[in-house]
Amino acid sequence: MQEKWGIGNFGQPIDLPIFLFIYLSAMESPSKLRQPHLLISSEKIDRRTFLQKSALSLSGVSLLGSLPFSSQAEDLNDYPFTLGVASGEPLPDGIVLWTRLAPKPLEGGGLKDQEIEVYWEIASDPEFSDIVQHGTELATKDFAHSVHVEVAGLSPSSYYYYRFKTGEVVSQTGKTKTAPALGSDLAELKFAIASCQNYSAGLYTAYDHMVKEDLDVVFFLGDYIYEKASGANALRKHLPDKEIRSLEDYRIRYAQYKSDPSLMAAHAAFPWIVVPDDHEVKNNWGGDGPPYDDNASFLQRRSVAFQAYYEHMPLRKTSIPEGIAMRVYRKFSFGNLAEFSMLDTRQFRTDFACSGNWEENCAARFDPGRTMLGEVQENWLTENLSQSACTWNILGQQVRMAQVGRKMDGTIKYAADSWDGYAATRNRLMSSIKDNQVKNLVVLTGDSHKNWVNELRLNPDDPQSEVIGTEFMGTSISSAGDGKEFSDIGLELMEINPDIKFYNEQRGYVVLVAKPDELRADFKVMPFVTLPDAPIHTIASFIIANGIAGLSPSNRDTATTVAQALV
Ligand SMILES: [Fe+2]
Repeated sequence: MQEKWGIGNFGQPIDLPIFLFIYLSAMESPSKLRQPHLLISSEKIDRRTFLQKSALSLSGVSLLGSLPFSSQAEDLNDYPFTLGVASGEPLPDGIVLWTRLAPKPLEGGGLKDQEIEVYWEIASDPEFSDIVQHGTELATKDFAHSVHVEVAGLSPSSYYYYRFKTGEVVSQTGKTKTAPALGSDLAELKFAIASCQNYSAGLYTAYDHMVKEDLDVVFFLGDYIYEKASGANALRKHLPDKEIRSLEDYRIRYAQYKSDPSLMAAHAAFPWIVVPDDHEVKNNWGGDGPPYDDNASFLQRRSVAFQAYYEHMPLRKTSIPEGIAMRVYRKFSFGNLAEFSMLDTRQFRTDFACSGNWEENCAARFDPGRTMLGEVQENWLTENLSQSACTWNILGQQVRMAQVGRKMDGTIKYAADSWDGYAATRNRLMSSIKDNQVKNLVVLTGDSHKNWVNELRLNPDDPQSEVIGTEFMGTSISSAGDGKEFSDIGLELMEINPDIKFYNEQRGYVVLVAKPDELRADFKVMPFVTLPDAPIHTIASFIIANGIAGLSPSNRDTATTVAQALV
C-alpha cells in the first residue's frame, strides 16, 4: 500500500494545468481519490504552503517507523484518509481532531461493520519529533467510521501538528492552534468567516487563498452542504444526483464535498468552529419542519441530517445528536479579547411568520410569543453577554440580523426566514445588550451569498435610535456561482435601509482582526468561481473602534462612499 503514495510519487513537480486536470478528473472518478499523491500541486511551494497544501501531503510517510502499528481491517485495501483531517473547538488546553476512514468515500465509505482502531498523535513540530500526546480511538460503523478525538492538557496559544494511522497507513498532517489562556491579555486575534459552499455551483478557490492567510481560527457559519440535486447547468454534479433524504445519501454528499482538495487543505491548516444552517438539512427549515414539508418525515430526515453533520465535523461529543436534537450553540473565549457565542437559529425557532417568504409588515413578526432562539438558548445568550469580561462580544450565527426592507409589488417587504421574521426576539436581544451595557457587539452571519455591513439599532425603524452593534455578513464560498461586483439591488436596498453600509455580490470570505483598540474586517472577493484560479482582492475594509457601537466614525463616511460607489 505504501508504494501507492510514497514520497517518490510527489518528487516530480506537476504543472498547475496538469494539477487542475487531475483534480477535475478526480472529481469525475472516485478511484483517483484513492491515489492522493496525484492531487498535489507542485506550485513553487515554500515550507508553509507545503504544510497547508499537505492536507494532501504525505508528511507522515517518512516517519512511519515512529508510529506503532494498529489493527488493520480487511477492507482497508485502499487509502482510507480520503476525506482528509480536521481540527476544531479550540480551548486553551484542548482541541478536537477529526478524520473518517472512507476508502470508497463516494460509495458509502467502503467499510462494512468492523470496528477499527485508529492511532492518533499530536506534536509541537511538523516533523513529529516532539510528540506531546497520542492514543487510539475506535472508528465504528455507527458514526460512519469517523473519529473525534478530544485532546486535553495542551498549552494555550500554541501551534500543534497532528495525524492519524490505521494499519500501516498514515494520514495527512494537520496543523492547529489552541486558544489563549482564559482572561489573558491578547494583542490580536485573526480569523475568517466562511459559509455556503454549494459544490455544484462553483469551485472552492476561496480556500486556496484562505490557506495562505495567517489565521488563528476559521468560523464556518452554515450551508456546508446543499441537499438538492444538481441543476441542469451544474458545474460539478451532486452525488447522489437527487435531493438527499436518507443517512446514506447525506453521508455520500458530505464525502463528495469533503473530497475537494481545497476544502481539505483549509481544514488541515486551521482549527474550525462550525454551525449548521438550513441546507445541511433542508432549505429554510425551522423548528419542527419547513412550512411545506410533512412534519413526521421531516423530523426523521432532520435526525439523519444531524447525524451526518456530526460525523463529518470536528465537533465535541457534546454535539452528538440525540434523536432529532443536536447541541451546537456554545461559547468560545480567546483571552480577554474576544468571546464568541455560536448560535443555533434553526432548531428552536417557532414556525415562520406569515407565509414564510418576503412579506409585508405582518403583526406576527412582533409577537413576543414567537422565538428565534428558544427560551433556553436566549437566556443562555443574554447571560453570556451580560457576564462577559471580553473586549469584543461576537455572535456567530446563520441568518441576517439587521432589518432589511425591500420594495416588492409596490410595498416594503421583509424576509420571514431572517431575524426580521422574529423581530420580537431581536428587540429583546438589543434591549438586553443596552441594559446590561454589553461592550462592542459584533454579529457574524452567513446565509445570503452576499457581503453586507449593517449597523444594528435599538429600533431599526428610528434613524435617531441608538446603534447597538455591527453585523458583518460574509458572502458564499461558491453558492450562486460567479456573482457580480455592481448591483442595482444593492443601491435600492441601501436607499431603503440606511443602516446598510456595504453590499456586494461576489464570492469569497471575510478576514477579521480583533485588537484591544479596534476590530477590522477585510472583505475578500474573487471575480469568478466557475473557472479555476480566480485571483482574490480586498474590495472593502471596515473598522470598529473599541467603545463606539457601529462603524468607527472615521470609517463610516468612507465606508458609505465606498459602498455606494460599488452598487
Ligand atoms: Fe447558502
